[in-house]
This record gives sequence, C-alpha cells and structure tokens, in this order.
Amino acid sequence: MSEAKQPVDVDVSKIPVEEIDVSDPLLYQDDRFYPYFQRLRREDPVHFCAESFFGPFWSITKYDDIMKVELDHETYSSEAHLGGITIRDNPFGNQMASFITMDQPQHTAQRKTVAPAVAPMNLRKMEEMIRSRTIHVLDSLPRGETFDWVDKVSIELTTMMLATLFDFPFDDRRLLTYWSDVATVNFDAPDAMVKDDDERMAVLQEMGAYIVKLWAERTDGEVGHDMISMMAQGEATKDMDHLDIIANFVLLIVGGNDTTRNSMSGGLLAMIDNPDQYAKLKADPSLIKTLVPEIIRYQSAIIHMRRTALKDAELGGKKISKGDKVVMWYVSGNWDEEAIDDPEKFIIDRKKARRHLAFGAGIHRCVGDRLAELQLQILWEEILKRDLKFELMGPPERIFSNFIRGIKSMPVRIS
Ligand code: HEM
Repeated sequence: MSEAKQPVDVDVSKIPVEEIDVSDPLLYQDDRFYPYFQRLRREDPVHFCAESFFGPFWSITKYDDIMKVELDHETYSSEAHLGGITIRDNPFGNQMASFITMDQPQHTAQRKTVAPAVAPMNLRKMEEMIRSRTIHVLDSLPRGETFDWVDKVSIELTTMMLATLFDFPFDDRRLLTYWSDVATVNFDAPDAMVKDDDERMAVLQEMGAYIVKLWAERTDGEVGHDMISMMAQGEATKDMDHLDIIANFVLLIVGGNDTTRNSMSGGLLAMIDNPDQYAKLKADPSLIKTLVPEIIRYQSAIIHMRRTALKDAELGGKKISKGDKVVMWYVSGNWDEEAIDDPEKFIIDRKKARRHLAFGAGIHRCVGDRLAELQLQILWEEILKRDLKFELMGPPERIFSNFIRGIKSMPVRIS
C-alpha cells in the first residue's frame, strides 16, 4: 500500500465520514486538507480511521479536545517504544529516544538541561547576532530578479541560527539542513534523499560521529551558552550513549529548523496573498507583535503530534482503548471556528493572537517558542525598515509530508 491515495478531484462532502483518512501526505503537499478537517470538526470531531497506511488511528480535530489530550500526559503517552510522536510508528523504539519521545520523569529532567539555551536571558545575547545576520541576508538579495525565498532566506537564516545555538562550525552549517531533511523526509517522496530506515540511519550515524566529536571536546571546561556543551555537562544528559545523542540532536535540528524555516516562507506567502494586511503592517509596524503569532498559527508548521493511550479513556463521547494511536491535528485545531474567529483568514492584528496550538501545549510545549518568535520578529522588522515589495513569480512547491507543513521552494521577486 502506498502512502498517497486521495484523488485530487474528490468531492469531500460525498465521502462516507468513516472512510475519511487525513493521513495522506498528498493532502498537505497539495494544500487541500481544509475541507476534510472542516467536515470532521462538524460531523465527527473525534474520528476513528480503521484502515490507513499507518494502521488504525484516532483523529482529534477540535481545539479544546486537542488541549485535553495535550494536558493529560498521564493518559496519553509520547514514549518512543509505544510508537512515539508521529503517526508513523517510531521504528527504533527506545533504542534512540529524545525527550520529546519520553514521558515524565525522564522527559522533564532532560528538557531542563537544554531549556536555558533558549531562555530569555540567552536569547537577549543572541538577538544582536540574529539581527546582523538577517540584515546581511536581506541586503544580499537581488533586486528585480527572481530568486528562491526558501533557499536564500528561510533556510539560510534558520541554519545560521542553529549553528549559533550549537556553536557549530559555521562553514559546515548546511549539514544541519541536510541532516534535518534526512530525518524527516518521506521515503515515498519522488525526490527523497534516503529511501528507507537503513539509509536514513546511515546518514544519522555520520551525523552522530560529527556531533560526538564536538560533544567530547566540550565535556570539560566552562559550560558555554550552546546546547551541545550544556548537554555534555548536564546531570541528566551527560551520560547519554551515542544513539541518544543522535536522537536529541535530531530533535533539536528538526525542532528548530523545519518549523521556523517554514514559518518564514509561509509568512511571506500569506503576506503576498493578503496585500491589505501588508499595507496595514506598513502603516503600523507595532503590529509585528500580533503578526508573529498569526504567522505561526496560519502556517502551523507541525501538522500533527501523536500520542498512545496508556489506559482506556473517553474523549468527545468516544471510547479510546488502551494502546490506541491518538493523533492531534494542529492544522485542524488552529482552524477551529469555535475557538478562533475567522480562522481561515490571515489577520495580522488578531485579538488573542497567541491563542493557537502551533507550539503544542502542556509538558511538551515547544521549548524553542520564544526563539522562533524572535527570529520572525527580527525578520519582519528588517523587511519593514527596507520597505520591500514582493511579487510571487510562480506557485510555491510544498513538501510531501503529513508531519511537517513545509514549502520546498518559492520564487519571489523584490520590485
Ligand atoms: C516541541 C512546534 C520552533 C525545539 C514542539 C512541538 C511543537 C513545536 C508542535 C510539540 C509540542 C507538544 O507535543 O505539545 C514548533 C514551531 C516552531 C518551533 C511551530 C517554529 C515556528 C522550535 C525551535 C526549537 C524547537 C526554534 C529549538 C531550537 C523544540 C523541542 C521540542 C519542541 C526541543 C520538544 C519539547 C518537549 O518535548 O518537551 N515544537 N517549534 N522548536 N520544539 Fe518546537
């Protein structure tokens, strides 16, 4: 069975509700998932899909129900050996686990070790550097010529930021992008750079060797402000084995890379599609405060997170059984008409703009949320200072994934 199967010209209202399967990556690659979730939210918000490429699973589609699952970590587990946090079961079990695929108490102990790297005090130290790199990237963009915004801006800025966060050799920084792409690619995608778990693991082992070398150099001496030395010397993390180091590193590069990158691309696309909103922003740059969370909601760069029920439970009138796969679709919760006004609209001065699920909630809520917001804030401040006018020169190409809502390339011209 292939992962992709939903025909493009389907009339969603005609599919029997029990047959709806929102796990198909094509729905996200073609950006046509909205009517599926709209239907589920209205007719069957806690929905059981009995048969899919990923096995049977529950879809949680309403904002409030997603919040219930997020906050009840005693019922809904993230543990790697139970399947982990994606609809596709984690193939490595506990052999390679990072704290996003752990429950308490290990989760919280390890999270505490890396959290200071992205805490407000450390971010203040990074702000100037992020700004000077953003200025450099924006000022190097061609004027009057078409270029790929994703490659020239989104990837470049996020990769530079990650290199700083890890104090990673700067000239090798595109390795971070490559590793992150390998870690998340769908094997079924036509341009997948690895075709199965063995090939993926081979690349990640190479990454591991690179990181373990940096780790070994940073086990003594002063703990720097970078995440690698914090982990190499942190009580809860310093004795990690090779595979656990790989897993944690993948978590941090994927966590910080795909998400922020795609919010930078999706934000510009939304702004080009909504010129009235751009005009509003130019008239009042202080709206960047609400623009940033609106971009993050509107893009919803993580499509879903998955949990596994540790015990029988009830949700939205449905009986979830111990062992069931429970998928929280953030792209649906963030478009829930009962939680967010006019959710399908991009509104840069939205009231309660921070009310969204794009960063998750509860004990696993994104640890890098402030860093992501800071990067987007600086990017838009610097765009406004330059009064840049953008044109979209062709359709954006989206990635084939049901986990990362991503834009692979986006031809743009600054006029
Ligand atoms: C967790 C989204 C940026 C590191 C998460 C989760 C989501 C998310 C949905 C899971 C939350 C849950 O299960 O409840 C995003 C988005 C970002 C972003 C949309 C950008 C717009 C970053 C950055 C970093 C980062 C910049 C770090 C450098 C992490 C880590 C976790 C995480 C380490 C695991 C937290 C835990 O399990 O305790 N993120 N993220 N993220 N994110 Fe982010």
